[in-house]
Amino acid sequence: MASEPGHRAIEIESILQEERRFKPPAGFGERAWIGDFAAYQQLYARSVADPEAFWADLAQKELHWFAPWQQVLDWQEPFARWFVGGKINLSYNCLDRHLPERGDKTAILWEGEPGEVRALSYAQLHAEVCRFANALKSLGVGRGDVVAIYMPLVPEAAIAMLACARIGAPHTVIFGGFSGEAVRDRLNDARAKVVVTADGGFRKGAIVALKPRVDEAVAQATSVQHIVCLRRTGQEVAMQPGRDLWWNELVARHSSDCPAEALDSEDVLFILYTSGTTGKPKGVVHTTAGYNLYSHITSKWIFDLRDEDVYWCTADVGWITGHSYVVYGPLSNGATTFLYEGAPNQPDPGRFWQMIEKHRITIFYTAPTAIRTFIKWGDEWPKRHDLGSLRLLATVGEPINPEAWIWYHRVIGGERCPICDTWWQTETGGIMITPLPGATTTKPGSATLPFPGIVADVVDREGNSCEANEGGYLVIRKPWPSMLRTVYGDPERYRQNYWGQVPHVYFAGDGARRDADGYFWVMGRVDDVISVSGHRLGTMEIESALVSHPAVAEAAVVGRPDDIKGEAIVAFVTVEAGVEQTAPLLDELRAHVVKEIGALARPEEIRYAEALPKTRSGKIMRRLLRSLAAGVELTGDTSTLEDRSVLEKLRDG
Ligand code: WTA
Repeated sequence: MASEPGHRAIEIESILQEERRFKPPAGFGERAWIGDFAAYQQLYARSVADPEAFWADLAQKELHWFAPWQQVLDWQEPFARWFVGGKINLSYNCLDRHLPERGDKTAILWEGEPGEVRALSYAQLHAEVCRFANALKSLGVGRGDVVAIYMPLVPEAAIAMLACARIGAPHTVIFGGFSGEAVRDRLNDARAKVVVTADGGFRKGAIVALKPRVDEAVAQATSVQHIVCLRRTGQEVAMQPGRDLWWNELVARHSSDCPAEALDSEDVLFILYTSGTTGKPKGVVHTTAGYNLYSHITSKWIFDLRDEDVYWCTADVGWITGHSYVVYGPLSNGATTFLYEGAPNQPDPGRFWQMIEKHRITIFYTAPTAIRTFIKWGDEWPKRHDLGSLRLLATVGEPINPEAWIWYHRVIGGERCPICDTWWQTETGGIMITPLPGATTTKPGSATLPFPGIVADVVDREGNSCEANEGGYLVIRKPWPSMLRTVYGDPERYRQNYWGQVPHVYFAGDGARRDADGYFWVMGRVDDVISVSGHRLGTMEIESALVSHPAVAEAAVVGRPDDIKGEAIVAFVTVEAGVEQTAPLLDELRAHVVKEIGALARPEEIRYAEALPKTRSGKIMRRLLRSLAAGVELTGDTSTLEDRSVLEKLRDG
């Protein structure tokens, strides 16, 4: 499955030359949860010497339990159960326990794209969550019933998630940019009973329709019994009597009294679909207690959360970052989490900076692709605003190039904010490799060191640790509380994908190297997953979409390095006999991918090919296509190519 990590050799070389070092800003450590490097080292040493004692101690101190666990970890490789027998509720830990001291504190601060602002205190959020939890129960949703959430980034999305967590109904949040077809596949795979959606949302000054896509999806998803629809934009939508209910009418009938259920530590909290190496996205399963603990403690130590902070993570709740670091992690800590519904350039490219100034945001967490876009838009936009409230910056989703890191540090952070480049995945549930802001000296482009309790390494195929600066596979050697438990409905795929690649370790699918200081430099995927604007897509997924069009015989999709997006999608297609290779057909194919998956998967370029380069065993040689797409000289071995003339034609065409 994995190809050689070497295809990113060029990037590796440029990053190898990065010599700059940034100590934690003066005074930062004195107030931070983890105050200096020695404190980190001690904590880390303790965490790996006796991981169970380390996690048990934190679980006891940081979370509320209805009943204690009997066993910290039950590890039957590759299946883990954490805090076995414990009774807990994540929504209780995010809400109820804060009420005595923080009832009036703002939990969710939200700004819609058109500019309206809402603040929900912990007491108000608690009441809304309870009301919606009761509403779900009235629709027959109980422990174990899956609820799909397909919404714009409005407080109700978080309310729906917390309501599910409160009653033990696993949620599956589907990013609003996915198409009706993609929604349908997820509803069917998860056997969702209820879908929570909205009439639409605001994006780039326009209205995005959501309910019609749900209607389309539900027509072919028999498990769905009800659709709850929030009125957000006010546009006309079809409502099917008996099946469809308006959010506001539904909650008005229910009380705000809904005690949190004492759930099992290992009750499924959510399923989140993500791309892998096959045509079908996989449902990553996370459970309650371990996820709660890990998202809580990483939020606290990495973002150094305190009561005065106004914290903003720009992710959508449709992604793992939105789960762990917009909703659950910050709220479990009693923090104020800021949500913004819309686009960063609406009405102008200064929107983010204007909101940071207006809401006095102190912590800002975004993706490198966004930073590169801001650089392109020009320094004048951030410079128009007072960004003096910021005290900590962070990034996630892709490697950050040192230039973007330095710009972020200088122009946004005013050279006074530490930057946490956080490496992790949907599967890991929380941040795995990261600086701790008061403790770790940073190097631009490196995610630095593992979080306490995380035994990360760079290895070869057999699992031997690589030498310093030698490229290899990024793996995790020991189970951790928020690791995925399985692939929904497919434990064999879980075993094979994550624990069957290199013996006895978790295989992340990323290439990396460690430098002489032990710092990790993540180089990107070594499998057929690409990252477009920080969004993870499978090349096979896009290929399946293309070949589902009647004109297409075969398709191969690769990523091409892109200055802004990280990677852009390039597709090579062969057409069925008798089909003409026209320009309008290319447009049609692009539109077809959007319909099958969503706008985020739209190929930047589609090229016609007479044939695709294959090995004698029939495998498409993506390495060659990647070079062709990038317009670089073909290097490496082409001797396994079945028919050399295919390559010549592709190059000339
Ligand atoms: C990539 C997002 C380099 C990586 C939380 C990983 C990163 C994939 C970083 C997971 C980083 C994430 N540096 N690469 N700091 N963070 N990645 O599941 O390739 O959407 O495997 O989770 O993003 O993407 P996912």
